[in-house]
Order: sequence, then structure tokens, then C-alpha cells
Amino acid sequence: MCGIIGYTGPLNAKKILLDGLSQLEYRGYDSAGIAYFDAASKIQLVKKTGKVANLKEFCSRIQDNAHCGLGHTRWATHGDVTDQNAHPHQAGRVTLIHNGIIENYRELTRDYGLEGKLKSQTDSEVAAWVLDALYEGNPAKAIQNLLNHLEGSYGFCIMFADRPGEIYAVRNVSPLVAAYTHSGAIIASDLTALIPYTRRYFVLPEQQIVKLTAYQLTLYDKKGHPEEPEYLEVNWNMDAAMKNGFPHFMLKEIYEQPEALKNTILPRISKGLPDFTDDQIPDSVFETCDKIHIIACGTAMHAGMVARALSEPLLRIPVIVSIASEFRYEEPLINENTLVIVISQSGETIDTLAAMRLAKSYGSKTLSIVNVKGSTIARESDYVLYTHAGPEIAVASTKAYSVQLAALYMLICRMAFVRGKYSRDQSAAFLSSLLDVIPAMETMLSRKEEEKNLVTHLIQQSDTFFIGRGRDYAFSLEGALKLKEISYIHAEAYAAGELKHGTIALITEGVPVIAIATQERVFSKLISNVREVKARGAFVILLTKSSAVVEGNLADIHIRIPDVDDAFAVFPIAVILQLIAYYASLGKSLDVDQPRNLAKSVTVE
Ligand code: AGP
Repeated sequence: MCGIIGYTGPLNAKKILLDGLSQLEYRGYDSAGIAYFDAASKIQLVKKTGKVANLKEFCSRIQDNAHCGLGHTRWATHGDVTDQNAHPHQAGRVTLIHNGIIENYRELTRDYGLEGKLKSQTDSEVAAWVLDALYEGNPAKAIQNLLNHLEGSYGFCIMFADRPGEIYAVRNVSPLVAAYTHSGAIIASDLTALIPYTRRYFVLPEQQIVKLTAYQLTLYDKKGHPEEPEYLEVNWNMDAAMKNGFPHFMLKEIYEQPEALKNTILPRISKGLPDFTDDQIPDSVFETCDKIHIIACGTAMHAGMVARALSEPLLRIPVIVSIASEFRYEEPLINENTLVIVISQSGETIDTLAAMRLAKSYGSKTLSIVNVKGSTIARESDYVLYTHAGPEIAVASTKAYSVQLAALYMLICRMAFVRGKYSRDQSAAFLSSLLDVIPAMETMLSRKEEEKNLVTHLIQQSDTFFIGRGRDYAFSLEGALKLKEISYIHAEAYAAGELKHGTIALITEGVPVIAIATQERVFSKLISNVREVKARGAFVILLTKSSAVVEGNLADIHIRIPDVDDAFAVFPIAVILQLIAYYASLGKSLDVDQPRNLAKSVTVE
């Protein structure tokens, strides 16, 4: 999603803007631009398709000093990838950058007679022209008036030609964080661009305007009265947002998983049991619900699928997993007795946020599992369980997945205990098994060469199938997503028993099939499925536990994980699946951390 940064203060604004855009590259983008007041207090604008490095090189040839400006990386929603469609957009006295979607931009174009004025194909430029039409010298008043005309999501940073040194910002759904620091006033889409300057920040409340000048930052309430921001402290350091010697953020984050799990699990164990006292999640949340509904997108949804496979047999209540973008347009069968668990690494995914808001309208209690402190989903849910994985920069989610699972497993364990499904000893044993996955993951990380070697065959293929039964099927969903999103190899996850109902028609000589067989109860059935695909020429990569007995010539490659309890196999298996995807992407010389078309947090529909 688009990256936004604004700065005004005594330092070199162009450098701060360009460095900030580099920090925001991980969000995914196709073009970048900056606008700034030059020494003559005239707004200069430089914007180009391509990487931030291109913009930096171009700007290095412009010798001028700037102390106030805006920067933007664009992830195209409306209009092609062109210089003209890049941000910032200038409209009369207004210069504006935008993250989000203005849904009524066509009506506004008509109502304000903009057809002949627009230089780009973007909804953002329409908003800039409307604001210019409303501006009569009072920026806050004009912006407030603009909001009354807009439908949709926005994070705006705005400069007015006759207000040098001033930046105004306002948001609805799209994230913006800001701070007044010793270096001046700064605002951005997320913390990674603020961290170099401050550890104290606030989340801009929706539809409240903030004014930044070199000397102060003023937040206004919805009536236009100054209001003290609710400051937060950053809980990670700049190093955490750097590669620290790893070739890619993704590999670093795969290796950070054991530490991330410790940071998420250990602070929540008291007397051998999961304890959410510090998270202010009371047992009543777990005792009274008669159904659990998990809502998320992508990898987070896959974590939900694993949680369902674990919890339903244990808790004996319905556990439903919904894709957020589907759920938000349904008439869900939920009510005040339903516990809705919303999972989101970024806490800003618009479909997940909208789904949570719908769930709340049905009276359901909402509990979010989020990695980014102070994010919108975290702030709007009734309860929040923060994962402590640190910043996840690579678009492909890895450590977020494993800490989401750890959080879900601890919640399920607490629910089983308070609902009498687990004794104290059983709960303690469960937690102990959960902690055992940490060394198991470390073992898999130490054997990463296995995955490095096996991808040679994979990357010559156009299709790959992941198969599993029960929990293994839930694991395979994540394996398929990881592989396709960063290696661009078409990958599908299939319930192994379903293959015969059609898909096995696609299994021909050399087609890779990654079979996950960690669950004792269905192991022999899965092995039969492996024989079926093998008989049709598949190249079989078999993942089992160490103790599994498998005839020698069944698989082309056989990777064994440490003998953890079936319910916990997902953790070491996840490392294998992540490394397979990572090395496949590397083997194809692709952009591992910023795969094409993708963004780290999908804040537009
Ligand atoms: C996973 O590798 C992808 N980056 C994507 O599916 C992601 O999990 C999804 O967009 C949800 O993001 P969130 O957890 O920030 O809500």
C-alpha cells in the first residue's frame, strides 16, 4: 500500500523525505515522488515511476535547500503506473499525497467540473482539486469541508502554496502516525519511517486534522479545538527494522521466529498456565461464548485454519474461519454469544477491519491478535492480544504466522482450562509442548540446506501442489501461498482426499507434489495419496516426523521434522515451507522482500 511521509523542521527535508520513502519501500509500490517548499517558499515537485533509488538519483542533481515537504510511494489503485499518476498531486494552491480510495471521485469530478483540469487518472488528484475549490485561506476549515464531500478511505498530507512550512494531515481508515521531535514535526504511514527520529508517537485519530510546523504540532478535535495527542512508546528499535547482515528481510524474519515466539509466549505464562491478565482479557470472554468465529486474510487466515483444526475437537463448540473480504458482505450467523477473533499482523488490513466492525454491529465480542501496537484493528477491538514479533518488513509473512499461531494456541489452552476441558496438569502439559516447538524450529533452521537443494526441481516447474489431511491440510494452505507469492510458481493446496475428485488429472511426469504427513491419525491415508500421485509421475517432496516409517523409494525427497506432538507440528513445518518459498524465489532471482503487485498491508479494498 502507499507510503506517506511529511516533515517540517530545521533539517534537510529532502533527505528526510527520501530516506523515509526508502524505509517505506517494503509496503509495496510502483512509483515515488516528493514535493517541498524551496528557498523562495515555492513548492517544487519531483515524481517518477520506478524505485525510490531512481528518485534519489534525480533529486541529487537539484541543488536546493528545503525544510518542509511531503513524500509518497504509490501502489496503484486508480490509473496506470505513470509519472503523471504518481504523487504528490498539485491542484491550484493545493499539493497533496494520499493513501486510500475515494469512492465517489467520479461524482466529484462531475460536480466540480474537473474533466478538463485533471492531469492524471487518479482519485487523489480529484480530491486535491475539490480541496482547492473549497480553500479560502483557512486550511483546517477547507479540509473539514472536504471531508463532508468524500466517501471512502484516505490518509492525506497536504501543503498549501500560501502556507510555507506548514503541513496538514487527516485520515479515515488509512493509517497515519505522527510525532513532534527534536528534529521537527514528522508524519508517516507507519513507524518504520518515524523510528530514526523518535520513540514517542501518536496515531492520528480518524477525521481529526493535525497541523505540523517547524515549531509545533497541533491536533484538533472534530470541532476544531486543539486536543492533546495520546502518545505511545515504540516497543522496538531501528535495528529491528534493518536486515542486520541477512541478505533479505524475509530470511532474517524466518530466523527471528524462535525469539519472537519466546517474546509472545513467556510473558503470558503464570503458574504453568496461560495468563492474559496483563492483556486485560478476562476469563469471562472464554467461558460464556458458544461459538468462535475467526476472521482474517491471507497468512493470518491460514493461522486461523490451523487454530480451527486444533480447537474444535478440544472445545467441542463450532469454530468457523472466514475470509474477511467475504465475511464483510455476508449476513453472518453470529451474535452476542459469539467470540470473534480477528487476526492481522499490520492491524490495518481494510477487509479485516471492516469485517470486525460488522461483527461488532451484531453484538459479538471481538478479540484481535495484532503485531503492530496501536494499529486501527487493535484499537477498535474489544480486546487485543499483541504478538511481540517486532516489525515484519518482508511482504511474505513468516514470523507473524508463527506468533499468531502461538497466541491462538495459548488462547485455546486457556479456554480449555476455564471450560473444564483441560485440567491444570493438561494445560501445563500443553504449554510445555508449545514451548518445545522453539528448539524444534531452531533445529529446522540449522538444516536450511535441505530446502536450498530441493528447490532446483521446483523452480523449473510452472505448477506445484501441496497436499495434506486434517491439520496437515491447514498447514499446506500457507505453504502454497508462500511459494506462489514470492516465486510466482502457481501453487495450490489440496485436501489430499480430494485429489481423486478432479485435480489428480493435473498430476503428470515431474509435477512437484509437496505432501505433508505429520498427523498420526491420517498418516496411512496420506501415504496412499502419495502413492497415487507417484504412480502418475509426480515429483514427491514428503514432510514427516522423524519417527515416521516410510518405504525408501516412495518420495523423491523426504524431509523429517523433530518428533513434536501432532498438534504442534505446524511450527517446524512452517519453517520448511517458508524456506522452500524463500529459496525458490532466490533461485529465480526475484525480489524476495518486495514481490511484484503485492503490498505489505492491504489498506485499500
Ligand atoms: C502473506 O504472506 C501476505 N503478505 C498476506 O497474505 C497477508 O498475510 C495478508 O494481507 C494479511 O495481512 P495482515 O496480517 O497484516 O492483516
